[in-house]
Order: sequence, then structure tokens, then C-alpha cells
Amino acid sequence: MIDRSGTPLVELNNISLSFGGVKAVDDVSVDLYPGEVVGLLGHNGAGKSTLIKCLSGAYQKDEGEIRINGEVAKINNPRDARGYNVETIYQTLALADNLDAASNLFLGRELVNAVGLVDDAAMEAETRKIMGRLNPNFQKFSSPVKALSGGQRQSVAIARAVYFNAKVLIMDEPTAALGPQETQMVAELIQELRKQGLGIFLIDHDVHAVKELCDRAAVMKNGALVGTVDVDAVSTDDILAMIIAGKKPEHLAA
Ligand SMILES: Nc1ncnc2c1ncn2[C@@H]1O[C@H](COP(=O)(O)OP(=O)(O)OP(=O)(O)O)[C@@H](O)[C@H]1O
Ligand SMILES: [Mg+2]
Repeated sequence: MIDRSGTPLVELNNISLSFGGVKAVDDVSVDLYPGEVVGLLGHNGAGKSTLIKCLSGAYQKDEGEIRINGEVAKINNPRDARGYNVETIYQTLALADNLDAASNLFLGRELVNAVGLVDDAAMEAETRKIMGRLNPNFQKFSSPVKALSGGQRQSVAIARAVYFNAKVLIMDEPTAALGPQETQMVAELIQELRKQGLGIFLIDHDVHAVKELCDRAAVMKNGALVGTVDVDAVSTDDILAMIIAGKKPEHLAA
């Protein structure tokens, strides 16, 4: 069980964002605790990606407040977000295809030796260490990442976030392009990260996966929040009803 008596890791309070006349996100509030996975669900266009892009710094909210560890956070761009240890993993992974895992992990933040030269050996050693923890079966340390499977690429991207001390991980449909085995691998990675105390926002269209992987599910429809539920307190049908009808089932409505 997640202890929600303390300060949340992330609070999204009354967030709104419009594109032209369309309110893509309409007064949505969701929070996230350390070690917690919160699933974001809703039909195409419900506003899920737009909401989390306000946290990742890709978009600037029109209204509302973001708090990290209880303090108001000023997030105007992705660099600001990273400064709060918020890292985002998009489905279209930003990896350099021709470089190997270690070069991708340290891209733009290379390790250097005492005389200021890029230290490939140290970067590979660090990469082996972290991959050993996250994905022990990973062997392809000297292949360019274009030779990796979708799941392996995903694990390199996750390793990069974790190595640079992510506390909050945003995953927007991380398994959309993966086969069953790879999806399983990402699921195991998520469990491992939550054990290490990270908080994770997981956008996923698969209600069953959300029920299995997440502690709570937040459902959006037409930009608004339908509700947030403890996944153990509801059935998959309850969650589906929230997505489709746009309201909490009778027995949950407070
Ligand atoms: N950059 C943009 N410019 C204009 N409208 C946008 C932009 N991004 C999103 N929208 C609109 O905002 C609304 C919410 O889109 P968003 O991408 O957040 O939905 P979503 O819940 O992530 O959907 P999906 O499940 O398809 O990824 C939609 O009506 C979409 O067309
Ligand atoms: Mg989306």
C-alpha cells in the first residue's frame, strides 16, 4: 500500500490549457506519491498527453499550479522539468540510432577523465552497472541502438532517466509499439522503479494493464477529470464505464 499521509511528490492543481478555442485540459487536479504509479486513461483526444506535457515542460499551462514535494514549481520548458528531476519517456524515443547504449545514456552529459577526454570505458562500466539492475538480460552493449528491439530501446531510455536521478517519470504509452514479451519487460521495469521510490505517471489505453501496474487510475474525458480511483477498489468494467460514460459508477460516486 502507498502511504499517502505525507506530502505528494507531484501535485497538479486545477490545470487548464486551451488550443485556440478548444479546452484540451479543463481544471484537472491529480497528484502522485513516491513509489506510486498513477495511470492516466481516456479516449483519444481526452487531454492526457496535454496534461502531462504541462509537467514535462513541453507545454505551458494557462491556469493552475504545479507543486513538487509541496513547493510551487516553475516549469516553462523541458530543462526546468529536468531541474525538478522530472523525466519523460515518449513512445517515439529520442535515441541516437547509430550510437551504442552507453553513448545514448550519456549523450550530452558525457563522462570525462582527469585530463578532460571523453571516458568511454567509464561510461560503458556505468551503463553495465545500471542495465544490470534494470534489465539484467541486456547484452548488446556494443551494438548501435538501431539494432535493438523496441523493449531494449525502452530500457536504454529508462536507464538514462534513472541514471540522471529522475524522481518523477512520465511514460506516454510506453508499450504502444511493443510485442507481448517486451510489454512484460517494461511492466517489470516499472515495478522495479517504483520499488526504488520513483513516482510514475503512465498513460496507457489498456485498462487491464493499468489495473495490474498502477496504484490509482485517473480518467479524463473531453479535457476534464472524470475521477481518480484506487485500482483495487474497482473492476475493469468500472474503469471502462468511467472512460465511456464520463462519470464514476454509482457505488463509487462520493
Ligand atoms: N499542439 C496542439 N495544437 C492544437 N490542438 C492540440 C494540440 N495538442 C493537442 N491538441 C488537442 O487537444 C486535445 C487533447 O489532445 P491530447 O493529445 O492531450 O489527447 P490524448 O488524451 O493524449 O489522446 P491520445 O489518446 O490520442 O493520445 C485534442 O482535442 C487535440 O486535438
Ligand atoms: Mg496522447
